[in-house]
Amino acid sequence: MIREKVRVKSFKINGIDVTGASNQTILEIAQENNIEISTLCYLKGLSCVGSCRMCIVEVKGSDKLIPSCTSKIKEGMEVTTDSARIKANREMILSMLFSERTHTCSVCVSNGNCELQDKSTELRLEHSQVPYGHARFEIDASHKNFVNDPNRCILCSRCIRVCDEIEGAHALDLMGRGMDTRIIHDMDEPWAESLSCTSCGKCVYVCPTGALYEKDISAEEAEKKRNIIMELLERKVEQ
Ligand code: FES
Repeated sequence: MIREKVRVKSFKINGIDVTGASNQTILEIAQENNIEISTLCYLKGLSCVGSCRMCIVEVKGSDKLIPSCTSKIKEGMEVTTDSARIKANREMILSMLFSERTHTCSVCVSNGNCELQDKSTELRLEHSQVPYGHARFEIDASHKNFVNDPNRCILCSRCIRVCDEIEGAHALDLMGRGMDTRIIHDMDEPWAESLSCTSCGKCVYVCPTGALYEKDISAEEAEKKRNIIMELLERKVEQ
């Protein structure tokens, strides 16, 4: 296999001159330069899948808005991370995420600890621009410690990636299409009967919403540990 040589690229983000390696993404360089880009499916330490589209940016000369978490940098590109067009599109994306499932914050165990809720505050989204689908999926509460409620899932796939890439179990996957897509264990077995799940809880810790949560705890106690990936990776380097 011929490997592409990593080269240094210079370009602009919001008019600021920045540099990075050709295998880095726009989001990585923005973060290195303290330029904030809103994200949702992205989680440092996991692979990037570009599923939520919250991190969209404009690149001069292109009509398209592109996800910064999966787009590699290019020499001379001019990136804009904040504009009226980007904001309008983010609002629409967020509205669609809210309307696809049943996100009633007041009765959610992750109320106050939810990244979807945080995004709506960030964008000052007061109502959804899309009618609610009122999805009704069966809740899987078979596991002794954890619950899978697909009604609150935004299909970011963080749980699948952490289980596969960090825990090495690959107990989770996606099943179905479109609005019917949901997270399953093994071949769609109840969580308690999954042979590959190690019950480590990493999927629960990285879930951005209340789709995966711990049993028998209140909203105040339901603290997610979304930094767990970096903590584990740093510990591995030290060993
Ligand atoms: Fe980039 Fe989700 S954070 S597409």
